[in-house]
Amino acid sequence: MIDLHSHLVPDVDDGARSLDGALKAVGRLVDEGVERIVTTPHFDASWVRDPARFDARMDQVDRAFEELRAGVASAFPDLPLGRGFEIMLDDPFPDLSDPRLRLGGTRFVLVEWPRLRIPPSTPDVIERIREQGWIPVIAHPERYASLLRNFPIVGAWRRAGACLQMNHGSLLGRYGDEARTAARRLLEGGWIDVLSSDFHARPHLSTFVSEIRAWFAQRELDEVFELLTMGNPSRILADELPDAVPSVTLERGLWDRLTGFLRPGDA
Ligand SMILES: [Fe+2]
Repeated sequence: MIDLHSHLVPDVDDGARSLDGALKAVGRLVDEGVERIVTTPHFDASWVRDPARFDARMDQVDRAFEELRAGVASAFPDLPLGRGFEIMLDDPFPDLSDPRLRLGGTRFVLVEWPRLRIPPSTPDVIERIREQGWIPVIAHPERYASLLRNFPIVGAWRRAGACLQMNHGSLLGRYGDEARTAARRLLEGGWIDVLSSDFHARPHLSTFVSEIRAWFAQRELDEVFELLTMGNPSRILADELPDAVPSVTLERGLWDRLTGFLRPGDA
C-alpha cells in the first residue's frame, strides 16, 4: 500500500506530537502493510500571500520533516518517505508553484475547504488550479456534511479535473453515518481515485488499514482496493493521471435504505 494522506511530521499540526510518536505511528502503518508514505501536514492557502508567514511555516515543516526523514531512514530503511501538504483553500486561488506544496513534488496537490463546508464555485476553483498546471486531489470529500444533499457537485468536480481521495475510516463509519453513506455512494459510482489513512498518529486512534483491507476483501473487491491503495497512488507519484476506477454495487444496509441511498449515475 501507498499512503498519500497523513499527519506524521512531528509537532507541526494536530498530528504526531513528537518524533517518538511519529516513528511509532509509522511503525503501525508499516506493520499493517504500508510500503510508501507521503505525509501531508496542514497548510493554509492564505499563507502563500504572506511571505513572512509562508517562510516561517516552511522552515518549521522543513526542519521537522528532516528530523522525521532521518528517524525513518534509520528505523525503517526500506520505507520511502515523501512530503506534501493538505492545503486548506481559505484563499481559493493560491500560487502553488513551490514544489513543497504538492504531493512528492508532482503536479498533484491535496486540498480541502475550510470547516468541512463546500463553498460556492468549487468547480471554478478546480479549473483555475488545473489551468496553472496543477492537479487538485480533494481530500476526504465524503466528510463534507452537505455532500449527500448536493451530490451532483461530485460530477462537476471531476469534470473540472479534480481527483478524489477517500479516508479509510469513512467506509467503516468512523466519521459517522452520513460520511459512511457518502463514502459508499462515491465508491459505488467509481468517483474515488485514492484511498488513504489521514492518520493523525494519535495512540488512541486506530489506523484502520487492516480493517479496510478486510472490508474490501469481504465484498470481493480486492482488485478495486489494490487500484485505490497501490495502482493509483503510484501513478500519482509518477506524475501520471490515475486510472479509471470501476463502479461497484454494494449491499444496502438499513441506514442506507433509510437515508434514500441513490444509484451511481445520479451525480
Ligand atoms: Fe488530513
